[in-house]
Amino acid sequence: RIKRIKGYQILDSRGNKTIRVKVETYGGISATGDAPAGASKGSREAIELRDQDGGVTRAIELVNSLINDSLRDFDVRNQLGIDLTLIKMDGTPNKSKIGGNTTIATSIAVVKAAAKSLGLEVFQYIGGPRIRYLPIPLLNILNGGLHAGNELKIQEFIIIPLKFDNFSEALFAADEVYKNLKGLVTERYGKVYTMLGDEGGIAPPLSKTEDALDLVYTAIKNSGYEDKIMMGIDAASSDFFDGNHYEIDGKKLTPDEMIDYYVNLASRYPLLYIEDPFNENDFARFSILQQKLKKSIITGDDLFTTNIEYLRKGIEMNSAKGTIVKPNQIGTLSETFEYIEFAKKNSIKTIVSHRSGETEDSFVADLAVGVQSDFIKTGAPARGERTSKYNRLIEIETDYGLEYYGKKIYL
Ligand code: PGA
Ligand code: ZN
Repeated sequence: RIKRIKGYQILDSRGNKTIRVKVETYGGISATGDAPAGASKGSREAIELRDQDGGVTRAIELVNSLINDSLRDFDVRNQLGIDLTLIKMDGTPNKSKIGGNTTIATSIAVVKAAAKSLGLEVFQYIGGPRIRYLPIPLLNILNGGLHAGNELKIQEFIIIPLKFDNFSEALFAADEVYKNLKGLVTERYGKVYTMLGDEGGIAPPLSKTEDALDLVYTAIKNSGYEDKIMMGIDAASSDFFDGNHYEIDGKKLTPDEMIDYYVNLASRYPLLYIEDPFNENDFARFSILQQKLKKSIITGDDLFTTNIEYLRKGIEMNSAKGTIVKPNQIGTLSETFEYIEFAKKNSIKTIVSHRSGETEDSFVADLAVGVQSDFIKTGAPARGERTSKYNRLIEIETDYGLEYYGKKIYL
């Protein structure tokens, strides 16, 4: 049972303030949960509670007072009861009163404390006996958009190591490509341009999508993985849509022209994965693109914001084959679990994801394994806040001998 809940104002990977919550039980168990933070957020996401100067002192006060008082004596294994109490305490549809950052950090601390109290790994506690696979990583090795200082409009250039016998092999192959890419950029632009973006990908001074895709494809080929590693993008296109046009590659394209834009890219690169190709309200064009590119997994992130209401609409309209899952978009783990279950029931591929602002907390790795998601998206194979998740997956693989999901679906 919960004895005390306590908040800490800590730093995230961008040097911004964020919340850590610690849950302590009468039995002497304690665990923490951190709230990550996005930069290219969907407009329908849970709202973060922040002070005017960007700090989170008010949220911390709430944790130490109202949340501590309301959740005391709850059994930590009663995740649903605790999450429902947080939802009720907030009382708004988007957690705007007590903050989705406050609720998610609390919810994560609770699940970790419960696992500990039962002597289980977090992924075991979440998933039970159904656990067999480790997810396929989507590695964002070249950064643009709001995550970088260059002119690239597409936010993420992703590699997908599919055809490997186990997770570690897949990850290390992806890391070879990442290093090869660094070499290419050094050669073409000089070492000064190998600085990193927010998610640890290289952020060279490019402005055209094609040039970035060329670099990544060349790095894959140079590493000898052309038939094993595929590619993907997260356009995060709401960020370069002005209400009428998409401003990209020095041009202004209409939404219909954007369809052809992606079809053309997919004919030239092995684009297995395309996230947020259109702005967050354009369910119809997502659907058109998914019908045109049947082999690609068109995925909604800002489109769905881990919210069943919008995923239901996307399913009715055949907008996407995949959905991003970000617990802080909705605000509690119980709602996240319900979302994933709904997605799976409707054969939508699930991609458990970090945020661009992260901490060293590796929770999303356990979450991905626990819910048996198809993919995990957690940045480049570099920078501690990204590698903490990959390293946790290696640990799980080594200790529990789980199979690699890439092998199951593609070999
Ligand atoms: P964010 O971006 O965490 O900055 O919102 C990640 C994404 O769009 O997938
Ligand atoms: Zn995204």
